[in-house]
Amino acid sequence: MTTESAASQAILSWYDRNARTLPWRLSPADRAAGKRPDPYRVWLSEIMLQQTTVAAVKSYFETFTLRWPRVEALAQAPSEEIMAAWAGLGYYARARNLHACAKAVVALHGGRFPATAEGLKMLPGIGDYTSAAIASIAFDEAAAVVDGNVERVTTRLHAIDAPLPAARPLIRRHVASMTPQRRPGDFAQGMMDLGATICTPKRPACVLCPLAGMCAARKAGTMEAYPVKAAKPAKPARRGAAFVAMRRSDGAVWLRRRPEKGMLGGMAEPPTSDWSIRGDGAADLTAAPFPASWVHAGAVGHVFTHFTLTLDVYRAEVAGPKTDDGIKTPDGWWSSPNALPAEALPTLMRKAIAVALPGAFGSLQSSPKRKPGRPRTKA
Ligand code: ADE
Repeated sequence: MTTESAASQAILSWYDRNARTLPWRLSPADRAAGKRPDPYRVWLSEIMLQQTTVAAVKSYFETFTLRWPRVEALAQAPSEEIMAAWAGLGYYARARNLHACAKAVVALHGGRFPATAEGLKMLPGIGDYTSAAIASIAFDEAAAVVDGNVERVTTRLHAIDAPLPAARPLIRRHVASMTPQRRPGDFAQGMMDLGATICTPKRPACVLCPLAGMCAARKAGTMEAYPVKAAKPAKPARRGAAFVAMRRSDGAVWLRRRPEKGMLGGMAEPPTSDWSIRGDGAADLTAAPFPASWVHAGAVGHVFTHFTLTLDVYRAEVAGPKTDDGIKTPDGWWSSPNALPAEALPTLMRKAIAVALPGAFGSLQSSPKRKPGRPRTKA
């Protein structure tokens, strides 16, 4: 047996005993009975998992599949409903592409996902990683699936000293030569699970690892040195302001929808100054959407792919609907306290509202954990 096939056999038998139970996976009984996973569920889970951890994705996956059990239903859903259901998961271009992809699968492929990585890659939001993952898990194509976990396992196994991202082609070649023709999807998910649970960034549990006997980093005792990463340039810091207006009569909050194109496109927000394009949004009252007694309530921050953003948050109470005339923004709406939690508000905007109006969301949940490492799409 070659080293590659010894490693892939070790991964498969480890996976048979240790696969995580996840909502998009078949049960062990279904797998044993030879059932195939539903490509729609595999695709949906892989899009959600692109930049977000398994723990954060689970509840979103269950909500989406209950509400839209098939690709046709998702394709027909209004985009505002999809954006609202995605709110909090981050990287909102994924949700827009998700909808575009569902529509394309229905319109161009009669509701059936293409069965090859090459065919899948033609669809919106599906790149190298996702096409390989779907093709191997749903269709048994022996595609090389390389995410951050697989990079860590592979760079340790072979003690690859070249730094990321330059090392990616080499890592891909190693993974391609390890990937078995039989059960490539289980192999890919075994590598992911191993990276997530045993071959962790800090203090890997090598005593439990099926690859320990063949791992070059383990032999040298240098596991935590891998993967080697090139230093990243610092992100520029941007600043802007958010204006949270509350209607005195019923506590409703004034919201508007961000333009479809651009950062947080299509999502809801309290009016903000221009922070997305020039990066020098006026962080003072000159950017307020309408005159009111604005009071500085605090600041909130978020790390985007290419910059960090701090928003100064201003709060004002305004009188009842009769005085709405003073409001210049034409494309907004009053969101009542009951409606607010279900709005398509990104976590940053939820935080801004919570700073201005503590208790607006009950106890605010923290945002889903982003995967460390590389972003694959922009916010
Ligand atoms: N991360 C991305 N896709 C995954 C999968 N199918 N199983 C576990 N972790 C993943």
